[in-house]
Amino acid sequence: MKINIAIDGPSAAGKSTIAKKLAEKLHYVHLDTGAMYRCTGMKAKNTGIDLEDEQTICDMLKDTTIRLTPEGGVYLDGNEVTSRIRTDEISLAASAISKHPGVRADLVARQKQMAQEGGFIMDGRDIGTVVLPDAQVKVFMTASAAARAKRRYDQNIASGIPSESLETITKEIEQRDYQDTHRSASPLTKAPGAVEIDTSDMTIQQVCDAIWALAEPYVTKEDE
Ligand code: DC
Repeated sequence: MKINIAIDGPSAAGKSTIAKKLAEKLHYVHLDTGAMYRCTGMKAKNTGIDLEDEQTICDMLKDTTIRLTPEGGVYLDGNEVTSRIRTDEISLAASAISKHPGVRADLVARQKQMAQEGGFIMDGRDIGTVVLPDAQVKVFMTASAAARAKRRYDQNIASGIPSESLETITKEIEQRDYQDTHRSASPLTKAPGAVEIDTSDMTIQQVCDAIWALAEPYVTKEDE
């Protein structure tokens, strides 16, 4: 059986980029759990639900399908929303709805179900603590707020997404960090046994190599 790898950390620390690259190398499936919170935030917003109204959002989820393809596509109720969920407005909506325990319980159950077979690299905020506490490799990926804002800004520009100024993105990242670490339901925190990697001054390749070094002993064993 293939192992699971859990990558947690604050927004824009590079989790998805790294997870995607590692998944290609290992022939594993990358599961970007943030995309599920983004879909939930976007649907709630678009249907005029108050983001504080936990019960109505939970009811909405009962009638919601979220599909993540191995190629990175995101489908909400059958419609492709891969880039539409990446706006700064939806980032904040995702962070807002992610504080509700009922919303988390629904999405976490879906994630656990998906990872049963092994062979997943999941990234999020509560993967090592709640979704995959038994993951063989757990990483807590951090970077300074300034480094993360610069990356998100460059990413927006490169993908043609309308971008706020660097200053506004930095403020939004700090606001999300605060929300994500101060909520009572599964706040962002380093899981027991997780290895912390500060990526502020590291290249993508260096981060991949560092995680590969952690995973290699398990992956090599699998092949034996
Ligand atoms: O990783 P991301 O920036 O796409 O995540 C969007 C929001 O979803 C983030 O502010 C916090 C929330 N989130 C969460 O609470 N738990 C996860 N496992 C993934 C994301």
